[in-house]
Amino acid sequence: MMTTSQTPTKTILRALAGETLPTPPIWMMRQAGRYLPEYRATRAQAGDFLSLCYNSELAAEVTLQPIRRYGFDAAILFADILLLPQALGMDLWFETGEGPRLSTITKDADLAALKPADAIHDHMAPVYETVRILSRELPSETTLIGFAGAPWTVASYMIAGKGTPDQGPAHALKAENRALFQGIIDLLTASTVEYLSMQVQAGAEVVKIFDSWAGTLQGADFADFALEPARAITVALKERHPGLPVIAFPRGAGERYAGIHAATGADCVALDDGVSAEWAAEHVQKDGCVQGNLASSHMVTGGQALVDETRRIVRAFSKGPHIFNLGHGITPDADPENVTLMIETVRGG
Ligand code: CP3
Repeated sequence: MMTTSQTPTKTILRALAGETLPTPPIWMMRQAGRYLPEYRATRAQAGDFLSLCYNSELAAEVTLQPIRRYGFDAAILFADILLLPQALGMDLWFETGEGPRLSTITKDADLAALKPADAIHDHMAPVYETVRILSRELPSETTLIGFAGAPWTVASYMIAGKGTPDQGPAHALKAENRALFQGIIDLLTASTVEYLSMQVQAGAEVVKIFDSWAGTLQGADFADFALEPARAITVALKERHPGLPVIAFPRGAGERYAGIHAATGADCVALDDGVSAEWAAEHVQKDGCVQGNLASSHMVTGGQALVDETRRIVRAFSKGPHIFNLGHGITPDADPENVTLMIETVRGG
């Protein structure tokens, strides 16, 4: 683990420490995924997606695949944000072609039936083992990123039992039974600290908090359920692991991206493609490192537009600390050759 007294040498850690590098380091959300034939082969070997998440050897293998193929500057642990509700005692499965399904939380007794925050570790043991394998096997220049979902985003799946276009069931529970809703957020905040802390002990050098649905929180809800849990998790982790870099990803925050560093204590703010790089350089990067924010669709369409957009983003963020990334995950229909073109454009100008 890195501490504040050490000067980092890995490019991602240097950017996270606030250094402006001549070439931004690169990784990609969902870089291990279905667009890669080698991922599909390993997933078939594991049986299904969840079996892959809990098979430490194979989860480490798919994490390493994009590092071998592309030489990204960071690897992200292969797992899923929905493993945490399962570790707390909920049912979780994936419907082929549809996405995740969970048992639901609709009444006080459903929350009371879940395990306490510190009882997740037996269930998560295979994930921690994946991290240990990766910290042994990754090239010395590659940074290992651990992650968890943010409480609001994970709660939205626990309340609805599936993904929803507008997180309607979670917004409804928040309005109808505030105490229960707050109880879910509090349990997730505490268990996320436990989970990420163990990832760090196992060898994760950075952690990222994915709040994919932060943008649907309006008014005071954004402060209460996006900013406050991210702040509480960041503060608790930095107390336990001094100097640990934290990346916050409040997707869809729009103009509320301004001020996220200060509001959460995160070292880096990950930007989706809903804000322009020029705006974000002025209003967000002035406070610290930013990550992003090429639209994922360029990984499907490629060509000169991919090159032009990549150059524009690199240029816009060139005066401060920047980690090049997509605005969201790469999609299964992406062409692996377009990833090569993006990387060559970032590194070669
Ligand atoms: O970024 C990475 O490469 C690390 C691994 C990772 C996965 N999911 C693997 C995965 C990470 C960081 C996640 C985060 C995640 N999972 C989020 C937050 C980020 C985001 O994308 O907004 C969310 C909301 C989930 C929940 C989830 N997992 C959904 C809704 C789905 C189904 C949608 C889909 O893309 O199929 C998943 C499945 C999932 N998680 C896949 C992968 C590679 C695809 C599973 C497969 O192989 O079939």
